[in-house]
Amino acid sequence: MRKKIVAGNWKMHHSYHEAVACFATLYEHREEFPAGVEVIVFPPDLYIREFSKKLHLSDHLSVGAQNCFYQTEGAFTGEISPAMLKSVGAKYCIVGHSERRTLFGETDEIVMKKVHSAINVSLSVVLCCGEPLEVREDQSHFAWVERQIKAALFDLDEEQIKKVIIAYEPVWAIGTGKTASVEQAQEMHQFIRTLVAEKFGTDIADSVCILYGGSCNPENAPLLFAAPDVDGGLIGGASLKLSTFLPVIKAARS
Ligand code: PGA
Repeated sequence: MRKKIVAGNWKMHHSYHEAVACFATLYEHREEFPAGVEVIVFPPDLYIREFSKKLHLSDHLSVGAQNCFYQTEGAFTGEISPAMLKSVGAKYCIVGHSERRTLFGETDEIVMKKVHSAINVSLSVVLCCGEPLEVREDQSHFAWVERQIKAALFDLDEEQIKKVIIAYEPVWAIGTGKTASVEQAQEMHQFIRTLVAEKFGTDIADSVCILYGGSCNPENAPLLFAAPDVDGGLIGGASLKLSTFLPVIKAARS
């Protein structure tokens, strides 16, 4: 059985003191996480070390980075390598979030390089994919996501792909309050799983976690997470406060 994952993408929110308080509150409630649910928090990189120092393997709570650079070291002002993230306690790294693709010009090729360099230092990757509104409207969303998945993942080998979690995040649903319907999420997740099966076989496809992201909240999470191919969520706005994040985590109960 696939495990369920609920991941909180804090984006560029919370001062240091707010972040420490928010994480401490979540940590205090970790006993309430449903069995079999893994929770990951993606704070701004500055806070990863502080958070990871608190954690034990048995907590079912980990910390990850929202982005990385694909080079290992060198004259790349302002960038952070996967090895650096790992050295401060990150276990995961989000790659290819739509905000990185649209606001920071990340191409499919850059995303692919980041996936490889993160996996090379044994970080697990949360690979984001998802179509913008105009692509959904002209019905080419399956082809769009297929291109993103193939470009990012199809050069991996069978061991490397096991380090990947996929997050389907339709761009029109991110931060907009609009959510994909359960049917829209399920059909895309099933499609992505089929793509993974065609390349890597059904055993790997059956074990890969595919998260839904885009305006997930305590109201819609129970229905979305109950869909057979939705293995949890990547949560933005609702992950910033315990009062909304904890109910979303509880919604992943299998
Ligand atoms: P949202 O963000 O939940 O605020 O829509 C999700 C994401 O961007 O990962």
